[in-house]
Amino acid sequence: MKVLVTAGPTVERIDAVRFISNRSSGKMGYAIAEAARDCGCEVVLVSGPVNLDAPANIEVEQVESAAEMSQAVHKHAVDADIIVMAAAVADYTPKNKLDRKMKKQSGDLTIELERTEDILQTLGINKCPGQVLVGFAAETEDLIKYATEKLQRKNLDWIAANDVSAARRGFGTDTNEITLLSRNGKKISIPLADKKNVARKILKIILPE
Ligand code: CTP
Repeated sequence: MKVLVTAGPTVERIDAVRFISNRSSGKMGYAIAEAARDCGCEVVLVSGPVNLDAPANIEVEQVESAAEMSQAVHKHAVDADIIVMAAAVADYTPKNKLDRKMKKQSGDLTIELERTEDILQTLGINKCPGQVLVGFAAETEDLIKYATEKLQRKNLDWIAANDVSAARRGFGTDTNEITLLSRNGKKISIPLADKKNVARKILKIILPE
């Protein structure tokens, strides 16, 4: 079984010293990659910038921006049996990226942003027969409603609905609580636990028999 996992944030450069990013620590994605490896899968991990050690016996590809993540994911997706997009990919990137440091001017500043590719949606459109596609929905409100919409819109097999507004769940924490929703209507709760335990449970559920 070949498994492709993404993890961490993306970093969208504004100028030589500034960027836009988010609070993803990469812990959930790394735990999923390790759980897949421990199940005997061959794992590729495409990782945004994080403060985590590269896991043993996993091919790690480090990327920075959403555009770089897209390139790496599409390269490895072709022969992946399972793809888990746990990365918090930026939805917008600065339209003009400066190589030098921007100097301040008098008055306010507006930075124009343009949409990045929705990598998971592209994967959903080009899904190979038998491929299992898993997304995450990090939400602060209407968790199940938004997660269900993403499951359908992105043509996924599973989505991990993650309430990131609650304490000890989501960005930066060592623990998490997930509700897994499937394309054919299954709804499985994984109670609050260490991210490594949550990852093992997710793997057990999404790995085809
Ligand atoms: N995702 C992606 N490419 C993007 C944005 C998101 O592949 N440009 C993936 C994420 O890795 C995750 C899923 O899509 O698996 C849902 O991401 P999320 O940020 O929750 O949803 P969005 O589709 O970006 O919608 P919104 O930000 O409006 O909630």
